[in-house]
Amino acid sequence: MKITVNGAEHELASPPLTSLLNALRDELNVTGPKVGCQGGNCGTCTVLVDGEPRRSCLLPLAMVDGAEVTTIEGLGTPKRMHPMQAAFHFYYGSQCGFCAPGMITASVALLERNPNPTRKQIQNALGGHICRCTGYVKIIDAVEAVARGESFDGAELTRSRGGEATPKGASA
Ligand code: FES
Ligand code: FES
Repeated sequence: MKITVNGAEHELASPPLTSLLNALRDELNVTGPKVGCQGGNCGTCTVLVDGEPRRSCLLPLAMVDGAEVTTIEGLGTPKRMHPMQAAFHFYYGSQCGFCAPGMITASVALLERNPNPTRKQIQNALGGHICRCTGYVKIIDAVEAVARGESFDGAELTRSRGGEATPKGASA
């Protein structure tokens, strides 16, 4: 099986019925996607497969042969965060962080197909994602902020809206 993960091509040794989640974590040491329910119910293992959010615990390698896979590691780095990562950081959308890889990849995919979602549409898109810390309001606030076009400086913890910079923690 051959897959491209975050831009790097890999020939995998894992058997074809290995889940993509296990192959990413155990063979490739890509541990951003988290192991939760392993039954498709919690969303924490979500990655992008050819741009679509998919639950990697449910995908055997045989079904993703030749695919382009993007995990949370492929979106940005701590110094150059993807706007969605920076927004989660700014808006306190990540507490323990266990759900964040799935929430963020699914949110990036949502804005790709619908750049101006309503709050309800964001809730629906993330409906199958469980946050054990129950930080749903902050998570949805973060996705809405990216959709509004707010930009973030992750290093300085500031947000810019209409040319005005606001530090993290200041009221909106
Ligand atoms: S671990 Fe895949 S959906 Fe829960
Ligand atoms: S931030 Fe802890 S599970 Fe969501």
